[in-house]
This record gives sequence, structure tokens and C-alpha cells, in this order.
Amino acid sequence: MYFHSQAAPNAVRNRKAYFHQLLNSHSVGRTKAPLNVLNVASGPARDMREWVLDNPEREVFFDCVDAEIHAIERAKKLCEPFAKRVEFYHRNVLRFLPAKGYELVWSAGLFDYLTDRTFVYLLKALMAVTKRGGEVVVGNFSDHNPSRDYMELLGDWVLQHRTRDHLRELALEAGAPADSIEVMWEPEGVNLFLHIRR
Ligand SMILES: C[S@@+](CC[C@H](N)C(=O)[O-])C[C@H]1O[C@@H](n2cnc3c(N)ncnc32)[C@H](O)[C@@H]1O
Repeated sequence: MYFHSQAAPNAVRNRKAYFHQLLNSHSVGRTKAPLNVLNVASGPARDMREWVLDNPEREVFFDCVDAEIHAIERAKKLCEPFAKRVEFYHRNVLRFLPAKGYELVWSAGLFDYLTDRTFVYLLKALMAVTKRGGEVVVGNFSDHNPSRDYMELLGDWVLQHRTRDHLRELALEAGAPADSIEVMWEPEGVNLFLHIRR
């Protein structure tokens, strides 16, 4: 209970609301074509489940990639009520991405485990599958993390913490134009979100 009330676990919970807001902003008023979303390292996909069940009228399709079969199986169960709207890929995202185009590409809880080199490699790949006018949004823990010592010493939870400037530099290295990059955060200021407009 004590640990789960700290800044880092709060930040992880906050990213669900952040994803929901993104889905709202991309889908609201969209009448002509469905919204296609790529969810990279989707985990149990409870975030998607809650949003779709709350917004059944929005025409949104999700492709989810995750390397862990148990995560995929759990996610499939949770997304059963709207299974026609979700495709799951049990794959390593560094080796495979669906050959489609997306209006929104989202990844939380993955990039802060990657080295800078792999970060840039994967970001480039995600930018390549994002349609013109679409957006890539990637979460990464910030260097402002009051829970860091506790996480590392007691939880063996070691992440690549990155500053806003560092995220911006990596986006530039991946080929994003400077004026397409924005870095935002959730209310704790612990989880940053790198946005790249295509
Ligand atoms: C911390 S969870 C994040 C889940 C969810 N996106 C969230 O925000 O809570 C990280 C997920 O990344 C997946 N993952 C790790 N490395 C991966 C890779 N190379 N390719 C695909 N999925 C990967 C893990 O299996 C796990 O489900």
C-alpha cells in the first residue's frame, strides 16, 4: 500500500488517463474513416478495454504488439467484448510491426527500458508506420522521479530515466523535424510523453 501510493506507481496509473485523453482527442468528431491505433508493448490492455467500453460509438481499431504470451492472452480476454476491433500480435516489436498505416501510435512502459540506440531505431520504425497528419506518442520516465531510489533498491525496477531535452534529442536523431516534437507529462511529472506529429 505504501509503495503504491508513491509518485512512480501513481505516474504509471496516470498514463492510463493520458492514453484515454489521446484516444478522445484523435477520435472525437471523426466521421469519415475509422481511427487506426497501434499499441506497442500493449501489456494487459486494460487501458484500451476501459476506453472502448466507455466509448462504444467511436469507430476505433487497435493493433497490439507484445512479446509476452501471457500478456497477450490476458489482453485477449479483457478485450473479448470488442474482439472485432482488436488484432493482437505476439511478436518482438524490434523485429516486427504490422505493415499498415496508423493515425495514432502509442507506446508506454517500453522505451524507458531501451538504450538510446534502440530507442532511436524503434522510434524511426514507429514514425514510418504513422500516417501523414497522425501522431506517435512514446512514454518515458523523467529524471524527476522521487521514487527512484526506492524503486531500484527495493524493487529492482531499473529504468532509463530521461530528461525532456534528451527525449527531444533522440527524436531529432530519429529524423523528426524540430517543429513536430513536443514533450508533455502526467500530473506527477514523472512519466514524460514524447509526441511527434507526422
Ligand atoms: C510495463 S509493460 C507496459 C504495458 C502497458 N503499455 C502499460 O502502459 O501499462 C511493458 C510491456 O512491454 C512488453 N515488451 C517488452 N519488450 C518488448 C518487445 N521487444 N516487443 C514487444 N513487447 C515488449 C512486455 O511484454 C510488457 O507487456
